[in-house]
Order: sequence, then structure tokens, then C-alpha cells
Amino acid sequence: MATHFVIEGLKATIEDKEILKGIDIEIKGGEVHAIMGPNGTGKSTLASALMGHPKYEVTDGKVLLDGEDLLEMEVDERARAGMFLAMQYPSEIAGVTNSDFLRSAINARRGEGNEVSLIKFIRQMESKMKELEMNPEFAHRYLNEGFSGGEKKRNEILQMMMLDPKIVILDEVDSGLDIDALRIVAEGVNSMRSEDRGFLIITHYQRLLDYIKPDFVHVMMQGRIVKSGGPELAERLEKDGYDWVKEELGIVDETVGEQV
Ligand SMILES: Nc1ncnc2c1ncn2[C@@H]1O[C@H](COP(=O)(O)OP(=O)(O)OP(=O)(O)O)[C@@H](O)[C@H]1O
Ligand SMILES: [Mg+2]
Repeated sequence: MATHFVIEGLKATIEDKEILKGIDIEIKGGEVHAIMGPNGTGKSTLASALMGHPKYEVTDGKVLLDGEDLLEMEVDERARAGMFLAMQYPSEIAGVTNSDFLRSAINARRGEGNEVSLIKFIRQMESKMKELEMNPEFAHRYLNEGFSGGEKKRNEILQMMMLDPKIVILDEVDSGLDIDALRIVAEGVNSMRSEDRGFLIITHYQRLLDYIKPDFVHVMMQGRIVKSGGPELAERLEKDGYDWVKEELGIVDETVGEQV
């Protein structure tokens, strides 16, 4: 069965402040959806809420992955069900090597009695690292510790490629990548496009979407999807910014920072 992911009327709060004010997105297997939007509009909050981060309280709405209620699942169950998030700021974990982390993540996903053999795992990891032009020594370094910004991002994509998820959320995976790395990461993502997998790509810039062609582009503002379209929408945003969207929809800027 092809993957089907539905977000319906999703609302979420952080410390009693409502950040997500009713999000609707439907992703079918094979589709790439991009989310763009000004800083602080709730894009990363959406990603974290979907993964079940405890900081975010979901107060309303539904999220279904292949008919199963994601919001009822614990964080690890969501990962096992096939959710994957490449974080905007990947965490460093001292004392756990990259390859140990990956192997336990894969085995958790596969379930008891169905663990991947060590030989097969190593072969697979080596081949994916080669595809991503990563230095083999990164397998044995502690997870993300001391990795440069771009190295962390590349490592997130390695995890995605190894874990074979159903829904991939990439939060600003292009930030901090050099020009060659951007292409390599995008090729990694494109090689994973399939009928069994859907993508939600959060980005600020058209340049990533030049490589990873989205089927749908959504604009998020003040906790809502305010406009959706095709790739041409991202091109217009790159050219003209967000003011025209605000004008078209009569959105008034919320005061940021300054207190009167
Ligand atoms: N722990 C927190 N306490 C209070 N406010 C928070 C907390 N975490 C996030 N927020 C607020 O939630 C809002 C949405 O943040 P979020 O990180 O989702 O934005 P974003 O759209 O991803 O922005 P960017 O493009 O800068 O990454 C912001 O105003 C942010 O300050
Ligand atoms: Mg963000």
C-alpha cells in the first residue's frame, strides 16, 4: 500500500502559547511537499510536534499515517512506524558512535528477532557514506560531536537513507551546506523518492528546490498554511519575498520582540 499521511486541523502550544493554529496537509506516497515561511512562524514546531517532542502539546487535530493515529504513539513508536526528522539543529551525543547509533535505530525499526546482520549493516553504511561523499572515519566518531554544520546535515541524510522511513521531514537541511554538499545531499534525497515515501521539506530558499523538485509548495505564516501551490510559488517567493502574500490575504504583522 502506498504511503498516506494526513495532518488535519493540527494545533499545538509551547508553554501555553499557541504556535500551530490549525494545520492541514495531506501527503501521498511519492510526493514532495515544501513548506516555506518567515522566521518564527512555526515550521520547526510542526516538525517537532509530528515527531512527538515532549515540549510541544498538541491541543487539537488529527495526524494519521496509513490510517494509524500518530498522536497516540510514543516518540519511539512514531520512528518505528516510519517517521523521520532531519532536525534544523541536530544534537550531539557524546559516547555513542555514529555507527552504533544508526545500527540501534535500524534494529529498533525492524523489531526484535529481525535485526540486521553486522556485516550487512556495515556494507550498507559504507556504500551510503560513499554516495554522500563522507569520510569513512565519520562512522566511528561520536554522534555529531564536533561535526561541522554541513557535516551534521550530511549525517542526517545518511540516517534517512539507512532508516528507510515512510515520511521524511527535512528541516532546513540545506542550511550551512557548501555548493557541492547541497547537490550531494539533494541527490541523496532524490535517490530515496519512491511511491512508498512522502517528503515534507522545510526550507527558506529556492536553491534546494532547484535540485529537489517539489510537487506542492505551502506558505506558512503565524501558525497556519496560508497559501499552497506548485513549484512556481517558491520561485515567486524567492523573487518577491512574503509581502505580497500578506497583502493578498490581509495578514497583519505580529509585533516581534519590542515591547511598548
Ligand atoms: N520553548 C519555547 N518557549 C517559548 N516560545 C517558543 C519555544 N520554542 C519555540 N518558541 C516560539 O515558537 C515560535 C515558532 O518557532 P519555530 O521554531 O517553529 O519557527 P520556525 O518557523 O521554524 O522559524 P525559523 O525559520 O527561524 O526556523 C517562535 O516564535 C518561537 O520563539
Ligand atoms: Mg525552524
